[in-house]
Amino acid sequence: MKSLNTDYKTIFVLLLLAIMISCGEKKEKKEDSIIKRPKTEVAKKEPKQKMSAGARAFIQCAACHNLKEGQPNKVGPNLYGIFGRPAASLENFTYSEALTNSGIVWDEEKIRNWLSKPSDYVPGTTMAFIGIKNEEQQIALIKYLKEETK
Ligand code: HEC
Repeated sequence: MKSLNTDYKTIFVLLLLAIMISCGEKKEKKEDSIIKRPKTEVAKKEPKQKMSAGARAFIQCAACHNLKEGQPNKVGPNLYGIFGRPAASLENFTYSEALTNSGIVWDEEKIRNWLSKPSDYVPGTTMAFIGIKNEEQQIALIKYLKEETK
């Protein structure tokens, strides 16, 4: 009778242990998911803002050009109001003689010719930019410039 009693006790203790272990595992999993959940929620709430093709293309120009009224010139002149503006017309920027004497009034087509290869379109320009060959990129960039410089 005594040994039977001990067996029950052993079984009871083992059961208790098993329950405790499985509870502990569940708790860990729960904590895991609590830690992970906010991350995925943040990712859902703030999807990576998609840059337009034009904005991406402008990255190539941004080192040298601002686009907004009142912003300073950089290596290149501020392009605010560029559509319809005569070339080399900012008074606070020192242009090359070539661009100053070009007689260009900037419109979509001329800016496109310009950015496809500045040194071909206005030989002697000081705009050190290799040019954008890709037509889709040119179109996207013109669209972006039109929006951002008005
Ligand atoms: C390394 C600097 C640099 C980069 C990059 C650059 N530019 Fe220029 N940009 C200049 C300079 C300098 C001038 C003035 C050129 C001159 O006087 O001959 C200029 C002039 C211009 C003009 C004529 C402005 C006016 O007032 O007549 C336009 C339009 C222009 N850039 C557009 C762009 C675009 C669009 C890009 C990108 C595809 C670009 N530039 C990239 C330096 C740069």
